[in-house]
Amino acid sequence: MANLAILGGEKLFGEPYKNLTWPPRDLNTAERLKEVYMSGAWSFNSPTEEQFEREFAAFHGTKYAVFMANGTVTLEASLQALGVGKGDEVIVPALTWMATALAPYYLGATPVFVDIEPTTLCLDPAQLEAAITSKTKAIIPVHVYGSTADLEKILAIADKHNIPVVEDCAHMQGGFWNGKGVGSRGKVGSFSFQQSKTIASGEGGICITDDEELAKKIYLIKHIGYQRGLKQGQAAKAPEGLVCHNYRATAFQAVILSEQLKTLHDRIRIYGENAKIMTDMVKDIPGVRVQEPGRLADPQGYYSFHFLFDGEEFNGISKDVINRACIAEGAPIGNGGHGPVYKHALFNLRRDEYRIAGGETCPVCDFLSTRMLGIAHQSLYYKQTAEQIGAVVRKVATNADELREFAAES
Ligand SMILES: Cc1ncc(COP(=O)(O)O)c(C=O)c1O
Repeated sequence: MANLAILGGEKLFGEPYKNLTWPPRDLNTAERLKEVYMSGAWSFNSPTEEQFEREFAAFHGTKYAVFMANGTVTLEASLQALGVGKGDEVIVPALTWMATALAPYYLGATPVFVDIEPTTLCLDPAQLEAAITSKTKAIIPVHVYGSTADLEKILAIADKHNIPVVEDCAHMQGGFWNGKGVGSRGKVGSFSFQQSKTIASGEGGICITDDEELAKKIYLIKHIGYQRGLKQGQAAKAPEGLVCHNYRATAFQAVILSEQLKTLHDRIRIYGENAKIMTDMVKDIPGVRVQEPGRLADPQGYYSFHFLFDGEEFNGISKDVINRACIAEGAPIGNGGHGPVYKHALFNLRRDEYRIAGGETCPVCDFLSTRMLGIAHQSLYYKQTAEQIGAVVRKVATNADELREFAAES
């Protein structure tokens, strides 16, 4: 008689597990939204947006913040403000969402992919220096899923070559590294507030920085060239050397985010506790491990939590089969992650429009992308859910022989 439910064994959990309702909704926020609506101050750097900018910058420990339309244009505006343009190169990790690589491309620069660390899945500092050329004008480490990139090592290399770092913190709202908020160590920190993110307003993004000049430039870029605080009737002056856009967000988004920010710290702590429960539940199983949190991250932010079935015990068993087995036990863990950008179905830059450092592939990223299964941050909120997921992964992973049998038959 088989153990695994997918082969007719007894299912581990009958009830679907409990997740945090996402995006969160509450009447207090609805009331504040009504106030903004009635005020008519909906955009154009309304007081509500400026208040959120101050709150978000203070939370992560920087002096300035510029609230914007999404976490792609925040990257693009940061790079433009740093002087990135045609013919330049920008280093990005192979494992990220396409936006990290497309932001430099939109400015006429070439994205250069560097492989990831097998432990944290973030840009591998050991492979960074070899990717730098005379054309490298910025480095974008991504704090991906549930790990913060090794900022100490990355910044040391970047400083040695005098190259600015833009931290892509789209997954890392609320995370801290070595006592400082993520995004505050690089020249600019870029965040996304798209619907699935750890604080979310449907769409939205923000840049944080300690550099006043950069903050001013980013603001001009997002606000068609108008300076912050320009009064009606005051003459606007075209900003020299910048191509500006309407990359503005609205006060409605700012209200939603401002309310969510109040509980972010506590939520991240809970996510971390439950991540630890799942980590402990699988740590003695041969062949399976979890994405390691950042070396100096405390608290570690979480956009998602990933299991890696990369031991030889799982040779010949695809992650689709593993996922189907987990679903049959009552715990879908199917968020498989992005995979290498250059293999994404929607990534259609010509091969001569991007570079892969060291050759044609990033082998660690290519391999691990086929071995990772993850859950979104909402599933990290309840201890009971963490225990259920841990138990399902344990059951499935300790029955690799049955999985292989199933894989061979299907
Ligand atoms: C790592 C990373 N960077 C940037 C972005 C872009 O953010 P947005 O979707 O808000 O443009 C995302 C979005 O998912 C992301 O995951």
